[in-house]
Amino acid sequence: MGKALDGVRILDFTHVQSGPTCTQLLAWFGADVIKVERAGAGDITREQLRDIPDVDSLYFTMLNHNKRSVTIDTKNPEGKLVLEALIQKCDVLVENFAPGALDRMGFTWERIQELNPRMIVASVKGFGPGPYEDCKVYENVAQCAGGAASTTGFDDGPPVVTGAQIGDSGTGLHLALGIVTALYQRTQTGRGQRVLAAMQDGVLNLCRVKLRDQQRLDRTGVMKEYPQYPNGSFGEAVPRAGNASGGGQPGWILKCKGWETDPNAYIYFITQAPVWAKICNVIGKEEWATHPDYATPAARLPHLKEIFAEIERWTMTKTKFEAMQILNEYDIPCGPILSMKEIAEEPSLRKTGTIVEVDHPTRGKYLTVGNPIKLSDSPTEVKRSPLLGEHTDEVMAELGYSPEQISALRTAGAI
Ligand code: COA
Repeated sequence: MGKALDGVRILDFTHVQSGPTCTQLLAWFGADVIKVERAGAGDITREQLRDIPDVDSLYFTMLNHNKRSVTIDTKNPEGKLVLEALIQKCDVLVENFAPGALDRMGFTWERIQELNPRMIVASVKGFGPGPYEDCKVYENVAQCAGGAASTTGFDDGPPVVTGAQIGDSGTGLHLALGIVTALYQRTQTGRGQRVLAAMQDGVLNLCRVKLRDQQRLDRTGVMKEYPQYPNGSFGEAVPRAGNASGGGQPGWILKCKGWETDPNAYIYFITQAPVWAKICNVIGKEEWATHPDYATPAARLPHLKEIFAEIERWTMTKTKFEAMQILNEYDIPCGPILSMKEIAEEPSLRKTGTIVEVDHPTRGKYLTVGNPIKLSDSPTEVKRSPLLGEHTDEVMAELGYSPEQISALRTAGAI
């Protein structure tokens, strides 16, 4: 079976996490992704957080599946010529260098257009145009600048960053959507265009509900579904909401059997309004179903702490999986707090290809997260990440270089 992006060639100038997430997705959808790296060094993540000496790290392998690796010194005049040949052959250039790095290499938008007017140039940057546009940015900076950190954590503690890599992987996802959209528009216009996904913007997009809450707070001075209500106070800005649900159905994380020793013996419990009577039955508080202080969502809001404490008395008598099974029988929305160990061992995730075991020539077998987006006509096969420069000769030959020319370029330090 063919793949959705068969025939699309990506010149992948990405490194670390945000850009590689994007190009890995495009590779999984069938694009030919040619990753350009510096000879001898490569993507810095190849050697970061290594668990096996001298072997590509999991950081690298898990973000660079299904790609080809070529080494080019893009500051070497002959290396620049190789890069020009690649620009002429590819459909999309993806990069996440520090601001201005591509221009300093001599590959401005204008120059790229001269070489290939159909080329789409897609970039991740920390910030969009404005006071911080020249800044280098990593994940947690974006989480802080995009509104996630100020709204994450508990009210009596400092801002907290989340383990979900919403700044890096999240922005990579946004960029991938921009690229396929630009490819689609090119079928009408015949022209390439620039695509920019700024990490601050990507994080803010994922924190949209918090800007919603800011405006509600500005107008009413209170947010009744937040844990600060009714006994705490609200300031000018949206406060940290602990584990409160971001939507209109109140939720909280509750202890389950074994919580004293297992840090993940917890369940997320949502008091969804349509199943309130069932919740009351399950926890043995049948009278709450009709009591005026508890019967309606509005009446319950001032009592949420007390309600969750009562539900927790019930969840603490069950393991998180027992609780999940019972609650699901009644259609009560809930979710166990799964550890990474439990996720890695979960058979259903292996079956769907969301967790995949990959074999690597120097590392051996390891687990990775497969493509979370499943296309029925374009199934994903996860292939191991390339070794540094593994495909240099192959790609150079495709560009028309002879073995003698390739070896001369290598001697000159261009590839
Ligand atoms: N040949 C020759 N030079 C190369 C090269 C190659 N194949 N590949 C990269 N380089 C050069 C670049 O031209 C740049 O040189 P310059 O500074 O002289 O112009 C240099 O390598 C370093 O690139 P830079 O992007 O500045 O790397 P860094 O390690 O200093 O910074 C980041 C890393 C992530 C902070 C920065 O790239 C950044 O802010 N990127 C945008 C936001 C982003 O994606 N952040 C999240 C990363 S997960």
